[in-house]
Amino acid sequence: MLIAVLPGDGIGPEVVAEAVRVLEALGLGLRFEEAPVGGAAYKTKGHPLPPETLALARRADAILFGAVGDPDCDALERSLRPEQAILGLRKELGLFANLRPAKAFAELVDESALKPEIARSIDLMIVRELTGDVYFGTPRGRRTTDAGLREGYDTMRYDEGEVARIARTGFETAQRRRKRLCSIDKMNVLETSQLWRDVVIEVSADYPDVELTHMLVDNAAMQLVRNPGAFDTIVTGNLFGDILSDQASMCVGSIGLLPSAALDANGKGLYEPIHGSAPDIAGQGKANPLATILSAAMMLRYSLGNAEAADRIEAAVARTLAEGARTADLGGSLSTREIGDRVLACL
Ligand code: NAI
Ligand code: MG
Repeated sequence: MLIAVLPGDGIGPEVVAEAVRVLEALGLGLRFEEAPVGGAAYKTKGHPLPPETLALARRADAILFGAVGDPDCDALERSLRPEQAILGLRKELGLFANLRPAKAFAELVDESALKPEIARSIDLMIVRELTGDVYFGTPRGRRTTDAGLREGYDTMRYDEGEVARIARTGFETAQRRRKRLCSIDKMNVLETSQLWRDVVIEVSADYPDVELTHMLVDNAAMQLVRNPGAFDTIVTGNLFGDILSDQASMCVGSIGLLPSAALDANGKGLYEPIHGSAPDIAGQGKANPLATILSAAMMLRYSLGNAEAADRIEAAVARTLAEGARTADLGGSLSTREIGDRVLACL
């Protein structure tokens, strides 16, 4: 199996190096090939997503991605900015399903924005649609109304194929977890959400082993704070998923702990920590590599069909934290490399 390694900018290379060490230590015979992306690629190749990098991503069985974003590139026109690389990869590879787990680590519940007894109960997965909704619907734009007022408008739209596709990812994700799927929409107000709900119910006929419920998004925002332990798998659209997944991550604790996946229709995926390139701490060996190491575990689970190896990595990370090993973001003083060493020792 070929893994495309795209470290990117800032702390990206530092955290990706630790995840690669962990994957290598499993002895699975994975092959790794590295290519530049983001500001690093702009500086060496003149484009944030050079053709060779895209070709490697297409050829690979899975992609391990660090982060993109470089203050040196702030003045560039939009199409050349580092962030375009991740948008380009999602679009070119058809990565329509974003999986974001939020799970409490027993030793870290004090870092949560919630009361510890509530934070302790969190073990959920948000499946967010990534390529449709109000972020991409047309028409969109600005105009001046007949009354002379400036107006901005976007279009919220989904077709049934797009909804069915993400619904299937939701059901299949739930099947690998506790077999409960909560679909989140705003069907009391939005046409898009009424279609969403109809299609999710139709698709559910193919997954009789999964218990399906529905929740309105405003209520879901409340329940994520009040009783997050009640959720197993959530499936929702691009806009609601964007907001709810950030909310859920802060319920858990440090941004340096949270992995994510973006999957295509065949289970190929791009795996990355949810954090960015953290220019404020880049090059100092301070970054927490655990989010990227956990992203590597997701890669094994969702793209490489090796749940057992994924479990091993996740257990090693939990043990590392249980033994008190911490980077600065968690109030400790260990370096990126030292945390990598501790995870390897726990493996
Ligand atoms: P950020 O996530 O890079 O940093 C936010 C804060 O969290 C900073 O104080 C940083 O030091 C800290 N932090 C982040 N990851 C950490 C880690 N692993 N260990 C310890 N501390 C960590 O978000 P920010 O500052 O808004 O964005 C910086 C750049 O990253 C921007 O150019 C942004 O566009 C880009 N970005 C890229 C993403 C991606 O590649 N998918 C996602 C989010 C932001
Ligand atoms: Mg966001």
